[in-house]
Amino acid sequence: MKDKKEFSMILNRVRTIVNGSSDRNRKLKSICELLQSNFSYYNWVGFYIIDESKKYLILGPFVGEPTEHVRIPLGNGICGQAAERKGTFIVQDVSKETNYLSCSPKVRSEIVVPIFKNGEIAGELDIDSHSLSSFTREDKNFLENVCQIVSELF
Ligand code: SME
Repeated sequence: MKDKKEFSMILNRVRTIVNGSSDRNRKLKSICELLQSNFSYYNWVGFYIIDESKKYLILGPFVGEPTEHVRIPLGNGICGQAAERKGTFIVQDVSKETNYLSCSPKVRSEIVVPIFKNGEIAGELDIDSHSLSSFTREDKNFLENVCQIVSELF
């Protein structure tokens, strides 16, 4: 587990990426790489972006194995449920979640954190882990801070 100092150092690096001069997709990809390289249990890290109709989540930049879930209707899977509930959704054992879209049989737990813009969902940060019960309150708080910083890009 990371200590608070490391979390705050990584948040500073997220801020530096967001304030940089490249385009949004490159920044989001850099944030995926930063998160994956600092947390051994963040095995797949990616962003989904709400489309114009506000009915679908479209896969954005990610790191990890390719996924077939490139367009997820709101309400479907953990991602779609988090968007409808407008809140962070942690599933500590994906085999027990009936409304779940599997990307890989290796995945055992998942966290989805919404990105808000003017009170509306603009996108989400989705992280899959190959271990059960990977995501703690510390991960949730940390990733919600990441998404708050990232919301400046929307
Ligand atoms: N498992 C997600 C789908 C996206 S993949 O994890 C990349 C879900 O149930 O919504």
